[in-house]
Amino acid sequence: MTNYQSQLSLAKEAAKVAGEIIRSYHSTSVGRSNNSAKVNVKSGVDLVTEADTRVEKVVTDMIKNAFPNDLIVGEEDQAERPKGGQGENFPAGSIWCVDPIDGTTNFVHNYPFVAVSIGFIHNSVPRVGVVYNPFTNCLYEAAEGSGTLMNGKPVRIDTDATSIKDCLLVNNIGHLRNDDFIEESSERIQKWLKAGLRGFRASGSAAQNLAHVASGQVSCYFEHGFGGPWDVAAGTVLVREAGGVVWDARGDCDDLKMTFGKGSVCAGSRQVVEDVLKIAGKPKFDLNL
Ligand code: IPD
Repeated sequence: MTNYQSQLSLAKEAAKVAGEIIRSYHSTSVGRSNNSAKVNVKSGVDLVTEADTRVEKVVTDMIKNAFPNDLIVGEEDQAERPKGGQGENFPAGSIWCVDPIDGTTNFVHNYPFVAVSIGFIHNSVPRVGVVYNPFTNCLYEAAEGSGTLMNGKPVRIDTDATSIKDCLLVNNIGHLRNDDFIEESSERIQKWLKAGLRGFRASGSAAQNLAHVASGQVSCYFEHGFGGPWDVAAGTVLVREAGGVVWDARGDCDDLKMTFGKGSVCAGSRQVVEDVLKIAGKPKFDLNL
């Protein structure tokens, strides 16, 4: 028996319950905006819906019931969160990271890259990850030392890609709209394309991207400025357990740390991540401002 199995079972159970709730909000008018979602704007282009809040409450209640002493960092409920400033490391102990709907903008538009993301972190290292897309009905799971499964079958990262030339890269542009951020993001894409990148995508869900990297469905995921640890905690375990690396895109071969606030990530096989980062150069836009 490998480690963290009780946390893994709970995360899977909670993800399935969450998925039911998310599906219940799904508009039947395919291709139209999800009118049943009751959308609010958090700030700028960052959205939250009634479904996000409801799912987060259900999932956090399930966690509190099963592991009453653990801390929970949810995307929406700031009152419940342990406090930490932008870029500050997670404290030691047992912490759950919950993104009730990763890809809220997609959800609002009925674009099916939407995932529940539940990660368990022990002593600052992500140990368990479950990412569930209720529309494609794909559940990705991993616990430290036990490999990654997609709907119960073992998966691995894309090892055929050895450089940017055979890489399918997914690069989300999140919620930042500063001029220098936009310029830097566009220049980075140009550099990859000029270096011969095979394919460029942007899905709108960080958790879904990491799950796709873990299962070899894309070769690499890069994002400078993802929204918070709830976007990446679960997916980090999926990728590492599937044989990949998850680095902080601002460092040199630097494993992504669990920190509060926005972050920067590049995930995939070591070879491809090295190539993608070398071509991009270090991001200059300061997320800590
Ligand atoms: C966002 C999504 C998006 C990423 C942003 C995240 P949310 O999370 O993962 O793909 O680009 O950085 O904040 O707001 O949909 O939960």
